Amino acid sequence: MAGRKTWRVGVAGLGTVGAGLLTFLAEHPDFAPAGGRATVTGVSARSRSRPRPFDIAKLPWFDDPVALAASPETDVFVELIGGSDGPAKAAVEAALKAGKPVVTANKALIAEHGAELAALAEAQGVPLLFEAAVMGGVPAVKMVREALVGDEIRSIAGILNGTCNYILTEMEATGRSFAEVLAEAQRLGYAEADPTMDVGGFDAAHKISILAALAFGCAPNYAAAEIEGIAGVELLDIQLCRDLGYRIKLVASADRSPDGVLVRVYPSLAPLAHPLAQTGGALNALFIEGARTGRIFVQGPGAGSGPTAAAVAADIADVMAGAVRPVFQAPAGELLPFTPVDPSKSIGRAYLRLSVKDEPGVIAAVSEALAEAGVSIESFLQKPVENAPDSLKGGVPIVLTTHAVAESVLKAAIEHIAGLPAVLDRPRLLRIARI
Ligand code: HSE
Repeated sequence: MAGRKTWRVGVAGLGTVGAGLLTFLAEHPDFAPAGGRATVTGVSARSRSRPRPFDIAKLPWFDDPVALAASPETDVFVELIGGSDGPAKAAVEAALKAGKPVVTANKALIAEHGAELAALAEAQGVPLLFEAAVMGGVPAVKMVREALVGDEIRSIAGILNGTCNYILTEMEATGRSFAEVLAEAQRLGYAEADPTMDVGGFDAAHKISILAALAFGCAPNYAAAEIEGIAGVELLDIQLCRDLGYRIKLVASADRSPDGVLVRVYPSLAPLAHPLAQTGGALNALFIEGARTGRIFVQGPGAGSGPTAAAVAADIADVMAGAVRPVFQAPAGELLPFTPVDPSKSIGRAYLRLSVKDEPGVIAAVSEALAEAGVSIESFLQKPVENAPDSLKGGVPIVLTTHAVAESVLKAAIEHIAGLPAVLDRPRLLRIARI
């Protein structure tokens, strides 16, 4: 299209998302509605020669992403390297210091250094955009930062890691092991280079920390997040939860109360008919509860080349449109302090699985221990299992769900039960999602 300004885009990091972005921009340089043409004029990655779905031979190559970020030939710097520190942070800082707009998909960087980078971007008067950092192709960041600014968000909860959701879905559907399904998720390009980030819950914690900051007008505080991943979720629990009418999901949540903010990532039980339980495969989903709007639910692809590259492209379009707004919900200097709430005071329902000796009086002893601790049982299930896993240590499983109880009371009760002579292993705890 004649008359459009050409924006020279430097892309650092050529993995799944980078390749998707290069392919898209090569085919659609004029995609942005507000005018401007986006052309990739420089690339950088760890390896130049690694096989890629996109030929980079004709693109100017930079060994050092910092040099690409600071190059006079770069108008917009796109950071797709990943990692909270190291070259990704150095390159983003270099671009901002050089007065260049930055677009990044790096949730770890924004969750852990968002406030200082926001201050730098705002001092330079340039945008720092990260739509692709949360929920891939679902515009969660724009929705919370821009579209819901007229509301007062009270809580956010959802499924923010496609790899974990894929693993949990496939384990339930096929009865395959955690390790087998994880390897498949890596082949499909959902998992991070280091899958610990996914299965340990850290990736979801980065994402919910960013959403909490945007929703509540505070600086991101990843260090305050309570995090438990899915590596300890056994097929047996998936099956027993199903018998009780629940499905296990890795739920990330952020709640604001007069006491402060509570950010948590836990494997949690969702009732089978609930939209979160119905969110299968690598899909992501999010509930947002606003004082005026009520509940909003969105669901969509949170990972993968196409959706995530589309989110990066949308940020490039914003840069071309000239919009510069605070990086979070307020200028960096005016962000509210993030006061973490003591998680031991949080109240919720729980699922406990015990491995016990199959002998008279065991159920009575467990019930008595719970009653003494002040934990009220909601439902109880004892079921023989075929092919009992090693984790039962030769015992039989009993599972129960509790009525709402303070986390500190529940933890004390678990310690008490773990010490009973008939209990063969530490009780397994899963929370029932408050959704
Ligand atoms: N590894 C991430 C996931 C990719 O599985 O959701 C998107 O951030």
